[in-house]
Amino acid sequence: MNSSVRLVQLSIMLFSIHIAICKLEFTNVKCNTFDPEFAVFDYCFLKSINRTYKYLSIKVKLLKTPVAKVKVNVATFQRLNGYKPFLYNLTVDGCRFFNNKKSNPVVSYFFNFFKDFSNLNHSCPYDHDVILDKVPISHINTQVTDVLPVPHGDYLFHTDWFAYDIKRATVDVYATLN
Ligand SMILES: *[C@@H]1O[C@H](CO)[C@@H](O)[C@H](O)[C@H]1NC(C)=O
Ligand SMILES: *[C@@H]1O[C@H](CO)[C@@H](O)[C@H](O)[C@H]1NC(C)=O
Ligand SMILES: *[C@@H]1O[C@H](CO)[C@@H](O)[C@H](O)[C@H]1NC(C)=O
Repeated sequence: MNSSVRLVQLSIMLFSIHIAICKLEFTNVKCNTFDPEFAVFDYCFLKSINRTYKYLSIKVKLLKTPVAKVKVNVATFQRLNGYKPFLYNLTVDGCRFFNNKKSNPVVSYFFNFFKDFSNLNHSCPYDHDVILDKVPISHINTQVTDVLPVPHGDYLFHTDWFAYDIKRATVDVYATLN
């Protein structure tokens, strides 16, 4: 057999193994409001329908609308001895980001995880509840393992939500990549 054909076959095989063995599982989600007069969580949960279909749903009620100034800090952690900062720690102005998504490729990367499943897809002001509706884990799995491979391990995807420069809420999503 021609060696380049073999090389192609080998690549396909390794690629398939990579897809098969890299699997992201959400293990927990925690939502916390610091200001119940400003925002409350109606729900915040993970649900397993079957072995292949698991999803994340979150609904936040905004009680002082319209909200015209939003900032989000996204920080990722890897568990070693406790959760240690890993790779990302960035803050984005939500109102500006939506006016030009290309301005911040890393935030776009994270936003792509859930953009198709959320009504948080426009610029300020926000005058409605914010919903993440059944974000499938398989979708995020594809994003993480195909777009930006990261090592196996336990991860925490931590977000702080600020409105008018005051921290109002946090959402922590725990995941295992194995
Ligand atoms: C899992 O549930 C989804 C949604 O109900 C369904 O479409 C899918 O076929 C199910 N998969 C398996 C393996 O049962
Ligand atoms: C992220 O960076 C900011 C500013 O440098 C810092 O105040 C904050 O503690 C960092 N967060 C984490 C989780 O490391
Ligand atoms: C935001 O998402 C909703 C629901 O998926 C969709 O109907 C709407 O067109 C989207 N808006 C933008 C600006 O992408």
